Amino acid sequence: MPVAVIILAAGQGSRMKSDLPKVLHPVAHAPLLAHAMMAAQSVADRLVVVAGVGADQVTAAAQEIDPDVQVVLQEDQNGTAHAVDQARAALADFDGDVIVLYGDTPFVRPETLQAMLDARAAGNAVIALGFEAANPGRYGRLVVDETGLQAIVEAKDASPEQLQITLCNSGVICADRAMLFDLIAAIGNDNASGEYYLTDTVGLARARGLPCAAITCDESETQGVNSRADLAAAEAVFQTRKRAEVLANGATLSAPETVFFAFDTFVGRDVMIEPNVVFGPDVTVESNATIRAFSHLEGCHVSQHATIGPYARLRPGAEIGDHARVGNFVEIKAAQIGEGAKVNHLSYVGNAEIGAAANIGAGTITCNYDGVFKHQTVIGARAFIGSNSALVAPVRVGDDAMTASGSVITGDVPDSDLAIARAKQVNKPGLALRLMNKLRAAKAAKTKE
Ligand code: UD1
Ligand code: CA
Repeated sequence: MPVAVIILAAGQGSRMKSDLPKVLHPVAHAPLLAHAMMAAQSVADRLVVVAGVGADQVTAAAQEIDPDVQVVLQEDQNGTAHAVDQARAALADFDGDVIVLYGDTPFVRPETLQAMLDARAAGNAVIALGFEAANPGRYGRLVVDETGLQAIVEAKDASPEQLQITLCNSGVICADRAMLFDLIAAIGNDNASGEYYLTDTVGLARARGLPCAAITCDESETQGVNSRADLAAAEAVFQTRKRAEVLANGATLSAPETVFFAFDTFVGRDVMIEPNVVFGPDVTVESNATIRAFSHLEGCHVSQHATIGPYARLRPGAEIGDHARVGNFVEIKAAQIGEGAKVNHLSYVGNAEIGAAANIGAGTITCNYDGVFKHQTVIGARAFIGSNSALVAPVRVGDDAMTASGSVITGDVPDSDLAIARAKQVNKPGLALRLMNKLRAAKAAKTKE
C-alpha cells in the first residue's frame, strides 16, 4: 500500500522566543524538520509539509532536504485538523495510507511508523500513536477499551476521570487518505480551544462503527520541542540514540556520553573514539581509524588506520589518507593528506595537497590567504618540511624535497632539492658572556646607589 506522510510545521513556537521558525531549530546540526522528514522518508512514497509561520524559510529548508517534497500553506493556525486539511488538494490523486507527523516531534522511529501501518492493514480506520506519559499534563488522553481506541480527549476538554488516564496522544495518526479527509470534513470547532482537532477523527470513525487502534511507543520517541529546554532535551535524546548506534556498528567509545555526533556522522568498524570528541556535519570515519581526545571534525573524511588528535581540528574539505597521522594542535582545511603522511604538531594546513609519506614538521604554516584570494600549496611524496616553515602559496615542494627549519618558502622547490630560506647563522666568539657580565655589573652599580 503506498504511504504519504503529512508533516505539520505551521505553528508559531512562541515559547522558543526566537526569530527562527521552531521547526528550523537544529538538533545535531540538522533542523527539527529534517529529522521529521528523515523519519517520514523511511516509510513514505509521498511527503507533504504544511507550512505557516515563517513559510518562506520553512519551504526553502524542506525543498533543500527533499526536492520532491510538496509544501502547502496554512494561513491561519486553526488547529491540527485544519492544518491537515490544507494537504487535501495536494493528495487528491493519492490512493493509500496517510500518516500525520509533527515537525517539532522529530524522533519517531521507522519501526513505530511501520507498526501503525500494520494496524491499518489489519483493518483499523484510524490509528493513533500513544505513550505512557511520566507527566500527562496537557497531552490529549487516549480512551481505550476492550474494543480498541474509543476517542482522544484533549486535556482542556477532559473530565476529571479522563484526566487520570496516563496513556497520552503523541499526535501521530494514520488513516486511509480518502477516509482521513472525509472524517476531517465532519470535524467542528465546538471545544475549549475553538480549534479543529485532528484527534476528533477517532470519535467520528467510532460513531460510524469503524474500529480504531492505539499503537504505543516509548515517550522519548514522542519528545516534542516547545522551548529551548525541550530542544536541549531533544539533542540529548538524539545523542543517546546515535551513540548506541555507533557502538552497535562496532566502534569503541571509551566515554560515549562525552562524544557528540551530527545527524549524518558515519563511523566504520573498529574505529576508536576517545573522550570529548565533537563531530560537525558531513564526517566519514573509515574502519580502524582512531580519533583521539578533544578533537573537532566537520566536513571531512578520515581513511582507514589514520590517527587524528589529541586536540586536532579537521575542517571542511580535509581528506585524511590511509595510515596518515594528524597530531595535537593541528588544523587542516580543504587539504588532502596523503597515505602515511604525518602532520604531528602545531601546524595549519589549508588549501593544500600533501603527498604520501611526507613529513610536515612542527609549526608548519601554509600561508594560503593573501587577504583576497586563497592559494594552493602542493607538497610531494616523501617530502620533509622542516619545523617552523612558512609555505607562502601558491607554492610547490617536490617529491623527496626538503625545506630547512625556519624557512619562509616563497618559490617552488624542485624534486629532491633542499631549500634554505632564512638568514645564515653568524657566531660572535665570547660575546654572550661579555654582554652578560656588563649587564650584571650595571645592575650591581644601580643597587649600591
Ligand atoms: C496536540 C494534540 C494532543 C497531543 C499533543 C502532543 C490535537 C488537537 N491535540 O496538542 O492530543 O497530546 O499534540 O504534542 O491535535 N499545528 C499546525 N497548525 C495548526 C495547529 C498546529 O501546523 O493550526 C502544528 C504545530 O506546529 C505542532 C503540531 O501541529 O507541530 C501540534 O500542535 P500543538 O498546538 O502543539 O498541539 P497541542 O495542543 O500540543
Ligand atoms: Ca505541542
